[in-house]
Amino acid sequence: MLINLSDKSFQSIQSDLAIIITSKKCLDTLEDKKILADLNFKASDEEVVLLAEKRNVYVGCEDDSYDCIAIAISAAIKEIKKTKFTSLKVELGTSCTDKLKALVEGAIMASYEFNKYKSKKVKKEKLNLTIVCSKITTSLVNTLEDSLIIAKSVNKVRSYVNTTPEDFYPETFEKEAVKIAKKNKISVKVHGEDYLDKNNMHSMLAVGRASRHESKLIHLTYKSKNPKAKIVLVGKGLTYDSGGLSLKPAEFMAGMKSDKGGGCAVLGMINAISKMKLDVEVHVIIGAVENMIGGDAYKPDDVLVAKNGKTIEVKNTDAEGRLVLADCLVYAQEKIKDITYIFDFATLTGAALVGVGQYTTAIMGNNSSLKCKAVSNALKSGEYATSLPFNRFLKKTIKSEIADISNLANSRYGGAITAALFLDEFITDENKDKWLHFDIAGPAFVSHSWGYNPHGASGAGVRMMVEFIKNIDKD
Ligand code: BES
Ligand code: ZN
Ligand code: ZN
Repeated sequence: MLINLSDKSFQSIQSDLAIIITSKKCLDTLEDKKILADLNFKASDEEVVLLAEKRNVYVGCEDDSYDCIAIAISAAIKEIKKTKFTSLKVELGTSCTDKLKALVEGAIMASYEFNKYKSKKVKKEKLNLTIVCSKITTSLVNTLEDSLIIAKSVNKVRSYVNTTPEDFYPETFEKEAVKIAKKNKISVKVHGEDYLDKNNMHSMLAVGRASRHESKLIHLTYKSKNPKAKIVLVGKGLTYDSGGLSLKPAEFMAGMKSDKGGGCAVLGMINAISKMKLDVEVHVIIGAVENMIGGDAYKPDDVLVAKNGKTIEVKNTDAEGRLVLADCLVYAQEKIKDITYIFDFATLTGAALVGVGQYTTAIMGNNSSLKCKAVSNALKSGEYATSLPFNRFLKKTIKSEIADISNLANSRYGGAITAALFLDEFITDENKDKWLHFDIAGPAFVSHSWGYNPHGASGAGVRMMVEFIKNIDKD
């Protein structure tokens, strides 16, 4: 989809269709109010009417929030995609950057399609959207550029995650990371299993041992001239999670190509941040591993020694993400000094899905005000997020009789939190208040399309982190 701004009069702009985003209040002022009334159009969210002869598409929008506007433009685009119309116009009205952001991101995310595995590729002409405003200001132009970068990065992440485990394995992660680094001002280092072995990363190594694909630790760095902050973004990149010897039942295994969602998201984040030239230093660390079964597989009952020397009793090989992240977090904190923030993104637990639903990211950590900041930036960016609380009793549930800790809590409850408390064991005292864990198991993969998200990966994490980093020096 191509998007441009115009300050000509709405009527004078030639297009196949005009998209009219309308609230209940405005129904009476509309040109086609009679037909709309006959069609029982109430201007509710997600309600669309396409009047082909009139060349008008009406969409309901209940308020001016990001959610309503992005969902409205997305509803219109989904309807228009069924037709042969390609050139579109929509009115922005006043020079409101927030509204423009929602329109652009909603439109680009809604126009995403993943056809890689369709044998018949239907060649469709690209949609062309003109956003009409009264005056083209610099801030509108900047917002358009940034929103295009953000939404395209979201779509990039979606395509990575949607790719099958046969086509996207740790080496593919490496190739894509190198591609992103080459196109932007980013340096990249990739470490294979020899390095992991020599550097005592036996927690991560164990998870990938039964895979025919070599595990990779990928480290990308973006540095602006005068960085205001040093941010480390760690991603769980399980290119497939079969559960290992604690094998997943068939109905839970299907879909586990999405277990690389965190790793792909951090790649999308650094792509967007470098393209937006944000004034920060960003390190992205991806633990790219495949969790498989076989004679060489790691086992429940094994005791693993992580990079920081802590011993971990393996009680369940399906709780593998935390084992990979443990070593990646230690690697990050040893390599990178004077960190401002260290955040990890992971499709870590089914419990997060159960606890907060499939639309929301669960944010955890020791620093309450940082959690609040992360939640409010997420909401501002258009993503849903909430925070979950730690407590001393949940902390005790990951104790082990024979090792320092266990990778499985001794209680069935609070699984998203106990997983995060496991990760906390690998955060140094210096970084305790700088660390947050983002469990994106819910929103990373969409089973039944919602809003501007089609079935498949959603690109969760990218918008919220770009927003957080953009606002880093604001209180
Ligand atoms: N990758 C899964 C978590 C997951 C579940 C992500 C559903 C997306 C959708 C993770 O590795 C896992 O299997 N976690 C286990 C942990 C348990 C064994 C403590 C889980 O959540 O059941
Ligand atoms: Zn698992
Ligand atoms: Zn997993």
